[in-house]
Amino acid sequence: MKIDIVSIFPEYFGPLDLSLIGRARGAGLLRVDVHDLRQWTHDVHRTVDDTPYGGGPGMVMRPEPWGQALDALVSPSSVLVVPSPAGEPFTQSTAVSLAAASHLIFACGRYEGIDQRVVDHFGGREVSLGDYVLFGGEVAVLAMVEAVARLLPGVLGNAESLVEESHTDGLLEAPVYTKPASWRAHDVPEILRSGDHGRIARWRRDRSLERTAARRPDLLARAALSARDRAALDE
Ligand code: ADE
Repeated sequence: MKIDIVSIFPEYFGPLDLSLIGRARGAGLLRVDVHDLRQWTHDVHRTVDDTPYGGGPGMVMRPEPWGQALDALVSPSSVLVVPSPAGEPFTQSTAVSLAAASHLIFACGRYEGIDQRVVDHFGGREVSLGDYVLFGGEVAVLAMVEAVARLLPGVLGNAESLVEESHTDGLLEAPVYTKPASWRAHDVPEILRSGDHGRIARWRRDRSLERTAARRPDLLARAALSARDRAALDE
């Protein structure tokens, strides 16, 4: 997969050199290029923003630099993603759908956002990280790139960890524990040390249901539940 990121703060993306994403890039599984939007400005001040039509606070990103940037980067295979608090929610299923593309372009807006004509002209998908407002799209893009990249074949060593994690089956994952078996008088649940894989799987499923019911009843309402799951929830 190829990812292009356009931002006025390319330095934000230093962390993409680290850890598993850095390794995936090194292994050629993923190519990421970060571009400074100001390279597509032509005035001495390298202006990227202007006052909003219709009035109101803040500044809006001008269409011309964005138009030139995207003319240079868009290809027939590309999917353009525009992070915005006004976008559709970014979920694990958004990550799965973006991971199927061969070329992603992320356009990071700042200030009050990018002139809407840019998004409309290039058919951008506006996506929100959550119901809160960030200074700009950069942090949202770091999160989205990480969520997408870990789904690419070969990026995650153990494909099992993709199957059993939170959100894959629409539920939150059960709590996890490691050694020592007793720490500050807190003991690891006995069942996890029993070696009985059937009971362990049922215990995990029950904790997963319990957590989801307590923390994310909205997810539970949409999850595919078995008769046994429903019985466990009623206990
Ligand atoms: N830009 C500013 N706030 C954002 C959010 N919540 N999600 C995505 N992009 C943003």
